[in-house]
Amino acid sequence: MEIIVCDSPHDVAVQAADILQGYANEGGVLGVATGSTPLLTYQELIRRHKAGEVSFAGCTMFALDEYVGLPIEHEQSYYRVIHDEFSDHVDIDPADVHIPNGLADDVPAACAGYEQAIVDAGGIDVQLLGIGTNGHVGFNEPASSLSSLTRMKTLHPQTVVDNARFFNSVDEVPIHVVTQGLGTIQRAGQLVLIATGEHKAHAVAQLVEGPLSAACPASVLQIHPHATVIVDEAAASRLNNVDYYKFIQQNKPQ
Ligand code: F6R
Repeated sequence: MEIIVCDSPHDVAVQAADILQGYANEGGVLGVATGSTPLLTYQELIRRHKAGEVSFAGCTMFALDEYVGLPIEHEQSYYRVIHDEFSDHVDIDPADVHIPNGLADDVPAACAGYEQAIVDAGGIDVQLLGIGTNGHVGFNEPASSLSSLTRMKTLHPQTVVDNARFFNSVDEVPIHVVTQGLGTIQRAGQLVLIATGEHKAHAVAQLVEGPLSAACPASVLQIHPHATVIVDEAAASRLNNVDYYKFIQQNKPQ
């Protein structure tokens, strides 16, 4: 794992955008996340797109997850979030933006179809990830199989509470979701996990320095051959070896 500690959330977004930009300009397959953390990265990529620095014209996007039963017109459906916050502002063909279907009559079949669509696209080149306060990635909550594929999951009550800020009340947060599995995520060529804020410090410490364990689903990054963790100082504040990670960044082999 490469661990990059930044001075600010803005710098985290710039570092993540630098990585995604390279894949985008090659017409790559991009895995995109929702939640608050990636928004600055998307804003940075939209700014660079408008400045002519990055094109998404040949790209395909796959979102990580979606709520079950939330109409796609709902402003908190991840269909809407990806379109409103990112893809509608760049030059990707909307037909190439894929979101798991949380409204399918046959959810398992839709999940299998989603996996196949990723395979048919040639696999995800780079997957952007956030991390939940309980260590989830995508909506793979603690105890998720480390080799799971896209499927329906039940949210942890902590995640429901964490996500209530996007809804009028906690009762409106759907408790069922469809999410790429930890096995799906591991198939991506590069993983880029971003985290900011002190409230993520415990989860980041478990991810980077804890054991490989389904108790912290994000720890699966430890066995990925090309995983990059980009955090601000607050999110890095519980890392025992933070000085070493900074030392590595300052002394990269030429
Ligand atoms: C979103 C997702 C989640 C979030 C995580 C952190 O697609 O898969 O794992 O990345 O819940 O959310 P924020 O960034 O809102 O703290």
